[in-house]
Amino acid sequence: MPRMTFIGTDGSRLEVEAPVGLSVLEIAHRNNVDLEGACEGSLACSTCHVVVEADWYDALPVASEDEEDMLDLAFGLTKTSRLGCQLIMTEELDGLTVSLPAGSRNLMSG
Ligand code: FES
Repeated sequence: MPRMTFIGTDGSRLEVEAPVGLSVLEIAHRNNVDLEGACEGSLACSTCHVVVEADWYDALPVASEDEEDMLDLAFGLTKTSRLGCQLIMTEELDGLTVSLPAGSRNLMSG
């Protein structure tokens, strides 16, 4: 099974299993990573904002216009920002690493 890594705002790293077909948001929730995802993936918020490691950013499918529009509203937007609910895990993304944007809370919610 592919794995992916979340980096918290304090620099802590959490490597987790990343089942193919699940979004980064869903994987975060399964592992108690504090990524909000208020609209549960319907592109109506920007609280699932993650910052993708530069090396991985280019490997991802390009963002849709709707995703870009939502990202514009995200706090702490960077050049490699994406919405976690729109990043669907594939075998090719094994090793994907994303950071929680500055301004979000701690990596672990519990
Ligand atoms: S959860 Fe709302 S846009 Fe991703």
